Amino acid sequence: MTRCCVAVNRTNGTELVAIDGSERQLPSYVSFKEKDPMCGQLVINQLELYANSTVFDIKQIIGRNFNEIQINSEKHPEEISAILLKHVKQKIEEFQGSKIDEAVITVPSGFNQNQKIATHVAADLAGFKTVHLLKEPIAASIAYFVDRPIPSSFNLLLFDLGGGTLDLCIFKVEKNKFKVFANDGDSNLGGRDFDMVLFQHFEKTLEKRYKIIINEKSKYRLMLKCVEIKHALSSENEASFDIEDYKIDEFLRITRHEFEQICVPVLNRIQDIFIQIFSKTELTPVDINKVLLIGGGCQMPMIQLFLHKRFPKADHFCDESPDGMVAIGAAYYSSFLMNNSSNSVSKKDSSNCSIM
Ligand SMILES: Nc1ncnc2c1ncn2[C@@H]1O[C@H](COP(=O)(O)OP(=O)(O)OP(=O)(O)O)[C@@H](O)[C@H]1O
Ligand SMILES: [Mg+2]
Repeated sequence: MTRCCVAVNRTNGTELVAIDGSERQLPSYVSFKEKDPMCGQLVINQLELYANSTVFDIKQIIGRNFNEIQINSEKHPEEISAILLKHVKQKIEEFQGSKIDEAVITVPSGFNQNQKIATHVAADLAGFKTVHLLKEPIAASIAYFVDRPIPSSFNLLLFDLGGGTLDLCIFKVEKNKFKVFANDGDSNLGGRDFDMVLFQHFEKTLEKRYKIIINEKSKYRLMLKCVEIKHALSSENEASFDIEDYKIDEFLRITRHEFEQICVPVLNRIQDIFIQIFSKTELTPVDINKVLLIGGGCQMPMIQLFLHKRFPKADHFCDESPDGMVAIGAAYYSSFLMNNSSNSVSKKDSSNCSIM
């Protein structure tokens, strides 16, 4: 949802591809301000100018019914996703030096049939001929276990807190067989909710302390500041930003502790999903041997602490590049498909299969 990330399979291993200048992640922002649509960091840098013609977080609405979403756009989500996919396709083709018309695209495990179909439509519009959907938790676990031994019997919890989706998956390994035991999640819960908590906090402070009202134009700038503050608080105890934009020569500050306090309602929503997933199994949290933390949201110390408290007996693993992990897993899966592609059928949906 937040950024696109692609890996390819080459003779000497899988590799992440630069798709936004020299960056290996492309912010999923699309602007229609110019004649040709633009995407990536360029759009974020000019968000204020392009606010009325920019679309982001499109994965949140793709494949949903019109009455399920609030949308103010003339384009279908599929068309916007297609622009991102088309851009990415072109970059990979430049990187590989050949035409690529078959790809593995990862989707949240909670994606329903409509959302999967819409993803296929987007890929079609982008020019892909054959597309395999793979569930993100499965992709992440492939990347994790590809060069690690799989213990003979254990329970793994995969916790993926992305930009807009929370995906929980319990895998059970018995006699080296890997099975999805239960999965649950919320397709409307992610890093964006933590941004919104900060947004509302600063919006209130600005109004109360300085009588400043955030309007449509300044909204996006404040939102981007909130994302920066959230990221800074993952490594610092305090973060601040200047409010020169509002002609005031001061800084607004927030400590990590204060941020964690105002995020309690979001953590409670996560807790509810834990209750839900465990109610589907005969397992209890102490039965979990390993917790795999995926998604940018897991960089927040409060999330790591939250998981340590709930799974004190488990071994916790958090990858430095969680987005990369899902893409790398997808590339390994593509090599698995290529090696088994004697009967390749167009438009396969692998998102329901457990391949290990
Ligand atoms: N250092 C950090 N501290 C806190 N949050 C972070 C940090 N780095 C990234 N994030 C947040 O992680 C989220 C993006 O995570 P990720 O890249 O895994 O999402 P995604 O895969 O694009 O989204 P989704 O899984 O919902 O489709 C964003 O909300 C981003 O602000
Ligand atoms: Mg993700």
